[in-house]
Amino acid sequence: MSAHGDPIPMTARRSGPLRGAAVVPGDKSISHRALILGALAVGETRISGLLEGQDVLDTAKAMRAFGAEVTHEGPGDWTVQGVGVGGFAEPADVIDCGNSGTGVRLIMGAMATSPLTATFTGDASLRKRPMGRVTEPLALFGTRAVGRQGGRLPMTLIGADDPVPVRYVVPVPSAQVKSAVLLAGLNAPGETVVIEREATRDHTERMLAGFGATLRTEEVPEGRAIVLTGQPELVPQTIAVPRDPSSAAFPVAAALIVEGSDVLVPGIGLNPTRAGLFATLREMGADLVYENEREEGGEPVADLRARFSPAMTGIEVPPERAPSMIDEYPILAVVASFASGPTMMRGIGELRVKESDRIAAMAAGLRACGAEVEEGEDWMIVHGLGAGGLPGGAVCATHLDHRIAMSFLCAGLAAQKPVSVDDAGPIATSFPIFEGLMAALGAEFDRGDA
Ligand code: S3P
Repeated sequence: MSAHGDPIPMTARRSGPLRGAAVVPGDKSISHRALILGALAVGETRISGLLEGQDVLDTAKAMRAFGAEVTHEGPGDWTVQGVGVGGFAEPADVIDCGNSGTGVRLIMGAMATSPLTATFTGDASLRKRPMGRVTEPLALFGTRAVGRQGGRLPMTLIGADDPVPVRYVVPVPSAQVKSAVLLAGLNAPGETVVIEREATRDHTERMLAGFGATLRTEEVPEGRAIVLTGQPELVPQTIAVPRDPSSAAFPVAAALIVEGSDVLVPGIGLNPTRAGLFATLREMGADLVYENEREEGGEPVADLRARFSPAMTGIEVPPERAPSMIDEYPILAVVASFASGPTMMRGIGELRVKESDRIAAMAAGLRACGAEVEEGEDWMIVHGLGAGGLPGGAVCATHLDHRIAMSFLCAGLAAQKPVSVDDAGPIATSFPIFEGLMAALGAEFDRGDA
């Protein structure tokens, strides 16, 4: 089942060259944060280029439920009348975050140090995902949480009446956990310290500084410490959301594997904590260049130009790069199946607790398409078959996971036989224009099974 209706089976066929410009939507991570920090500022925040995918729309709805006024002004243009740090109202109903782990975890953090109670739920995928990684550090502030076994949604959080600041070493590389603790620290007195061993995406830190919060980073024995001074008055901002590198990954990858392709993907955010896939593709021998590098809204941005790359070779992806490309392993696994030789991906255990178990989903689908894949608890090896070499001819299960759906549809554009997915519905969570955008480049997609 798709998150919001009946399943939408879809098939991709081997396509002619992909050509043209692929203008992808705004960054999902930054879009969630813009709405949440806008809701915590005093006054009107203006946002342009907001991703209007279902995940972000669910966060907009949640911010309204906590008392902020969130208005859709035009395509990508939104305003948020914030209620100030500590100004959230108690929601009158359950907060449904749909498919979004980022939405639910960041919102839990944002309400955890206010004296109110909120109950959270989500779709069948989100209800399987662990929330203990967020509620454990939130308990240190004085927040109480009651959920299903294994720390699953639905879950009720009772915000701390009298929060204390926290020092917390994040045990897994997770920007969502780091961000939840920082957002909770906003309404605690004194300094909240979050320490991460491996750098994860830093949009929350950048945006908090932009909204006028006082925070600094320090190297400490356990890693990198982010020290936030609590109870600031956040000043509303004008935010231009850069285009999402995690969405750009799909037209880029498709161009690399489809014969004769030449695709320009303009205005992509290349924050170093997000750009690991593009470095990896270039190491594999991809013809991928950054044009017109510049800075927009405090984030590095470039136009990506990707051309068919028939001579890519498998590599060992450095495990320390995993946090900067954690959402891109599914599409990397597809590209790897069209490279020659094995691509080894290690240190990717976090993929097992994403919208689906992405190691299992990719291994199963690629095997069904005729590739040899080996997997372990936190690693995967894809044995590439070279340009045009993947047989295809399979229906792949997407498990309510947008990135699994898009990855297999890209595979089908270059495989020998069509590749179908059982449900393309979840693509709307992050990249609602995927089908039309890819078709405009020359991708052959049909609704239904092959
Ligand atoms: C995100 C963090 C990552 C990523 C997710 C978005 C964020 O999750 O996979 O798509 O916006 O903070 P984790 O924090 O679980 O690594």
